[in-house]
Amino acid sequence: MLHFQRVALAQELATAIQGKNLFGDAHNGLFLAAPRRTGKSTFLTEDLKPELERQGLIVVYVDLWTHKRRDPGELIANVIGKALQSHLGWLAKTAQATGLESVNIAGALKIDTSKIGRIDGATLVEALRTLRESAGKPVVLIIDEAQHALTSEAGEDAMTALKSARDQMNAPGKVNLMLVMSGSDRDKLLRLVNNNSAPFYGSQIQRMPELGDDFIAYVADLMEQQQPGLRPVNKAVLSHAFERFGHRPQFFLAALTEALSPFAAIEGRFESAVAAIAEQRLRDDQAQMESDYLGLNPLERAVLWRMLEKEQRFRPYDADALAFYQQKTAGKVSAQKAQTALESLRQHNPPLVWKSARSEYAVDDAAMHRWYRERVEAKTWPPVEQVGAA
Ligand SMILES: Nc1ncnc2c1ncn2[C@@H]1O[C@H](COP(=O)(O)OP(=O)(O)OP(=O)(O)O)[C@@H](O)[C@H]1O
Ligand SMILES: [Mg+2]
Repeated sequence: MLHFQRVALAQELATAIQGKNLFGDAHNGLFLAAPRRTGKSTFLTEDLKPELERQGLIVVYVDLWTHKRRDPGELIANVIGKALQSHLGWLAKTAQATGLESVNIAGALKIDTSKIGRIDGATLVEALRTLRESAGKPVVLIIDEAQHALTSEAGEDAMTALKSARDQMNAPGKVNLMLVMSGSDRDKLLRLVNNNSAPFYGSQIQRMPELGDDFIAYVADLMEQQQPGLRPVNKAVLSHAFERFGHRPQFFLAALTEALSPFAAIEGRFESAVAAIAEQRLRDDQAQMESDYLGLNPLERAVLWRMLEKEQRFRPYDADALAFYQQKTAGKVSAQKAQTALESLRQHNPPLVWKSARSEYAVDDAAMHRWYRERVEAKTWPPVEQVGAA
């Protein structure tokens, strides 16, 4: 499988989170947002993690989306537990063999051996500290799709525990615990940092740079090597197509494969065929959003509209919101009714709305915001059923 290594970006972030930049706040937690399928997880596991390990750090990675049904708090605790277990395996065995209930590590830390591998929120801090001590190296915890932690109370508790672990373990010039959180939606990730009661209040969200021209150059180079007949590959056209694919390598590479297939009935250069597939994909994606929207009942549409319009300032039940729903649906709308509509947007397949444990709501797929803005600009909002359509 083709993998374009992002060495420079990995090195840059590794330096930042260790607090080696004079200015910058990444040692307090690095929050990275980038849209879906743009290569976040690949970058974190294939580029950043190896780079941090190469620099002598212990890296623990968890993707809260791999088991969407499992409680995010439990997932975080588990992965830390596992890392600890692999460092303390010998210790646990010794303890069990000798029947000790707790053991001293280096005479300083005490850990309840019965809890190794089964850690609750309260002991997360202890577990991280123990991991740091027993490994003798600073620890980096990477939480992919971190916004998912906010969908459960245990997940929120885990985030608060991590914040407190960070504060207890770090001091100026001495960074022992680093946190990297990524998410596919800036708005949702913002809820970890954006108000007084948010666990990482004060931190900034950065946009994870998307793959760009260097990725295209790498792919074009490979193609020219493998199929000299394609020389010179037109990188500008491919680059533009990649952008139209929303910088999503998977769709781009699939289109390349399709355009180069001996069975593809294309005329002219393959680059133009890739560009045409990109345009088609864009139309398909937007048609899907339109049909999802039109499949909703009037109140659900109005609520979704309000969310798209207000973005982070969306308040589902304030007087203005209720007046808005009323105006759009030409009927009386109570807060109760609006709540039912929100609930059914959440239960929609695929879910259209995301809800945090504190009952904050956001549009589930951030791409919908772009679709909405484009239509507003083109004065084609809201979508309407085609007359005579089936
Ligand atoms: N550097 C890269 N080189 C080649 N292909 C890549 C690269 N990064 C990502 N991809 C491909 O793009 C697809 C999406 O990657 P990945 O799962 O890392 O994205 P993601 O942003 O984490 O997606 P999701 O939003 O679903 O979690 C995968 O098929 C992956 O193989
Ligand atoms: Mg991912």
